[in-house]
Amino acid sequence: MLYDPTEHRIRSFVTRAGRLSTAQARALEELGPKFLIEYKKEPLDLARAFGRKAPVVLEIGFGMGDTTAHIARLMPEKDFLGVEVHTPGVGSLLKQIGEQDIANLRLIQHDVVEVLNNMIVDGSLDGVHVFFPDPWHKARHNKRRLIQPPFVKLLCQKLAPGGYLHCATDWEDYAIQMLEVLGNEPELQNTAEGYAPQPAYRPLTKFENRGLKLGHGVWDLVFTKK
Ligand SMILES: C[S@@+](CC[C@H](N)C(=O)[O-])C[C@H]1O[C@@H](n2cnc3c(N)ncnc32)[C@H](O)[C@@H]1O
Repeated sequence: MLYDPTEHRIRSFVTRAGRLSTAQARALEELGPKFLIEYKKEPLDLARAFGRKAPVVLEIGFGMGDTTAHIARLMPEKDFLGVEVHTPGVGSLLKQIGEQDIANLRLIQHDVVEVLNNMIVDGSLDGVHVFFPDPWHKARHNKRRLIQPPFVKLLCQKLAPGGYLHCATDWEDYAIQMLEVLGNEPELQNTAEGYAPQPAYRPLTKFENRGLKLGHGVWDLVFTKK
């Protein structure tokens, strides 16, 4: 479905059923009640959700969650809110939360655009991670890509002054679009001249490693809110 008549906008994802492993299903059942925040059309009290007051980083579309778990463990002083629509991914990250005893991570299974619009208070985020955001590679699918001017404006609204937006992609055409959209947002400032060096906290994924060996590129972009 390219157009969602209930929301009057084009979505960046297609709902896939996907296979849920037994371990993922168990994680959803056992850890979901503690770490999964229900989507509601009302502001989320982040300090209450995490049980403390700490800087909060939002990760958009965490996939199977390996990177999210890695970063959350690396930075115990920050809290991480992961948003993903895909059920096996949510199960997979819950499983890692249990296995690795991660306390500073909470998840929401819902479209991030609605989460941002309805749950995230303006100026409440310390950072936003958008890694390999969506599979829309063809030019005719451009409109489905997340990183577009209105979405970036919405992210800026939710970031605290001095907060950062870190995007990464392995698709050059998308990297060019990201640089243009982020560069044209008056509230954002690039931390680099063009693309940024890969920040040390973002691990190379298996898939990325394979791509790099084949000579494919990966582009990181790190901007801060003025
Ligand atoms: C290509 S995958 C990358 C996953 C992960 N970030 C990584 O680096 O491996 C993109 C993910 O974003 C999710 N996604 C796309 N649009 C989304 C949206 N509007 N809200 C929440 N998740 C979304 C998809 O379900 C998918 O799992």
